[in-house]
Amino acid sequence: MSNDPLFQPYQLKHLTLKNRLMITSHEPAYPEDGMPKDRYRAYHVERARAGVALTMTAGSASVARDSPPVFNNILAWKDEVVGWMKKLTDECHDHGCAVMIQLTHLGRRTRWDKADWLPVVSPGHEREPSHKAFPKKTEDWDIARIVRDYADAAERMQAAGLDGIELQAYGHLMDQFWSPLTNDLDGPYGGSLDNRLRFTFDILSEIRKRCGPDFIVGVRYTGDEDLPGGLTKEDGLEISRRLKDCGMVDFLNVIKGHIDTDAGLTDVIPVQGMRSAPHLDFAGEVRRETGVPVFHAAKIQDVATARHAIASGKLDMVGMTRAHMADPHIVAKILRGEEDRIRPCVGANYCLDRIYQGGMALCLHNPATGRELEQPQEVPQADTRRRVVVIGAGPAGLEAARVAAARGHEVIVHEAANDPGGQVRLTAQTPRRAEMIQLIQWRFSECERMGVTFRFNSFADAETVQADRPDVVIVATGGLPHTEVLAEGNALAVSAWDILSGDATPGENVLIYDDAGDYAALQAAEKIAATGARVEIMTRDRNISPEVMAMSLTPSLRELQKRDVTFTVTWKLDAVRRDGNRLIAQIGSDYGGVTRERQVDQVVVNHGTRPLDDLYFDLRDGSSNLGEVDYEALVAGDPQTVVRNPEGTYQLFRIGDAVASRNTHAAIYDALRLVKVV
Ligand SMILES: Cc1cc2nc3c(=O)[nH]c(=O)nc-3n(C[C@H](O)[C@H](O)[C@H](O)COP(=O)(O)O)c2cc1C
Ligand code: SF4
Repeated sequence: MSNDPLFQPYQLKHLTLKNRLMITSHEPAYPEDGMPKDRYRAYHVERARAGVALTMTAGSASVARDSPPVFNNILAWKDEVVGWMKKLTDECHDHGCAVMIQLTHLGRRTRWDKADWLPVVSPGHEREPSHKAFPKKTEDWDIARIVRDYADAAERMQAAGLDGIELQAYGHLMDQFWSPLTNDLDGPYGGSLDNRLRFTFDILSEIRKRCGPDFIVGVRYTGDEDLPGGLTKEDGLEISRRLKDCGMVDFLNVIKGHIDTDAGLTDVIPVQGMRSAPHLDFAGEVRRETGVPVFHAAKIQDVATARHAIASGKLDMVGMTRAHMADPHIVAKILRGEEDRIRPCVGANYCLDRIYQGGMALCLHNPATGRELEQPQEVPQADTRRRVVVIGAGPAGLEAARVAAARGHEVIVHEAANDPGGQVRLTAQTPRRAEMIQLIQWRFSECERMGVTFRFNSFADAETVQADRPDVVIVATGGLPHTEVLAEGNALAVSAWDILSGDATPGENVLIYDDAGDYAALQAAEKIAATGARVEIMTRDRNISPEVMAMSLTPSLRELQKRDVTFTVTWKLDAVRRDGNRLIAQIGSDYGGVTRERQVDQVVVNHGTRPLDDLYFDLRDGSSNLGEVDYEALVAGDPQTVVRNPEGTYQLFRIGDAVASRNTHAAIYDALRLVKVV
């Protein structure tokens, strides 16, 4: 590794960072009672052990009571944080990984109806479109107390033994002072750039007074809001220079863009289908202009791009944050010469979108992430080698095969299609979602490496499976779209999958009834609208596409809005009937009392899948457990020991959509937690 730019140590003041890879600050919403307890620590220690040089913990750790934890942030204003952060830091240090934390006051980027119901505060009254809280305008005493709060929090982190801190200044209170769009104060904290930066320099001065000149302090900030009337690139470069010249800042962690809307946030943190490393050149420019150490992260998913970022001199430290969520062992794998075995982040953004909607970050691709206390990132070998037969090579089946093979079992996979992938293969046909196929490719190549036998074009029946003389059978046959939801005219509707697979030709005037709220409806709409057709997506929900979630919707909505696709919420499709060569869609509402009709030429129904479970039921009688799963054991991570039929010759389980229509994470998680103890 001596020549690899990524493995050149980096000297930041007195701190030697052992390589150039870092995890940037991100709040996975794992705190318990606002504290980074065991789960939180295990998450960071797993990555520290694998060799990352620096982990920037938290994400928006709150310095004040009136910055309530809108996504379960760490409460850095409480003294008890010191003990928890010390434990985390000590354990990461044991593995040679430096630890810092991001501190912030969220300003208007939170809600008053969280925690203590204090008014949110900002240098102006304008609310943030995302969080929708109308702020109180800061008074002098707010500024004085928040400056103290920052310094108190910094002192706590120093007491906990952290190597440093960074202050968050993109979309939060600090840069709400900077931006003309949010700062509506008069002097001394509003008006000129000098005045708008005063709050930041007050905080830096107070931190330096309390923590001394050696403590490492950086700023993570937007160098260009990229928003009419906001901070321009020139403003950003000027701010960068002033941060450098003040002599109180040891590194700059550069962001480009604004995060006050879902779309803005998505440009700052790009998701799948968006450009790789879009702001790397910009970060490089800041480094060139200032000569200050520059850190940066934004969709640098693969090691080659990270290496380029360092080799080209654009960055000093490169953030691979979601990449480390998908694979915590990136550094260890590079060091072992196994770069090609890294589990790639596919940009699905389930992690980030879920901190609001699901209450904690989980990785679509890696169910052990965030569950380090219960689920293995590396599956241990079993004591006894068994023969495991898996039916179905979608995400669930492949994960089951991968985990079983890693346990040392003999594994045979039957797949009816030509290729592995199941539903994911269909999803990945939309160019914007092409990265999804890596979920399959990674698992497939791991399976091949471990000698799993694949039988493609094998439509296995019970006899085929029993002929393999299995010890364990895992049915992962997935599901088929269920469209029979109408009171009349089911045969006149096609499914979203029919559109995606090409089995149905797009119409010209199309109604998509989306009762599942997942990607299929959006992708079908995109495909149909691309032909120039008129498309309306209707849902009985109050919101569109709830399963896709906020940032992941951005690229889709951009595409659909360009093509004038319309959304109708709170209306439902009741029936369809034919009228000559047209279809009449009968529309109703859960709120009752109203019906409408639409003339269209195609109706698409998206209503999830029904399990393909015939094989499972055919295999039940021959199994020892009759398909029963002991949920207590499953959740506790214990082996399955149910015996309901002592004559049975194998254990039988089904996983993923073969049980019920869910999502890819659920399918993979089913497989991991079951098979890790087989
Ligand atoms: C779950 C999650 C939470 C995040 N929270 C924060 C945060 O609180 N503060 C912050 O500065 N960045 C936050 N980020 C952004 C990351 O630091 C990083 O900039 C972003 O993920 C892009 O880098 P990547 O493409 O390497 O993941 C968060 C990211 C994720 C995935
Ligand atoms: S959920 Fe998607 S974006 Fe997030 S870490 Fe996992 S693969 Fe990457």
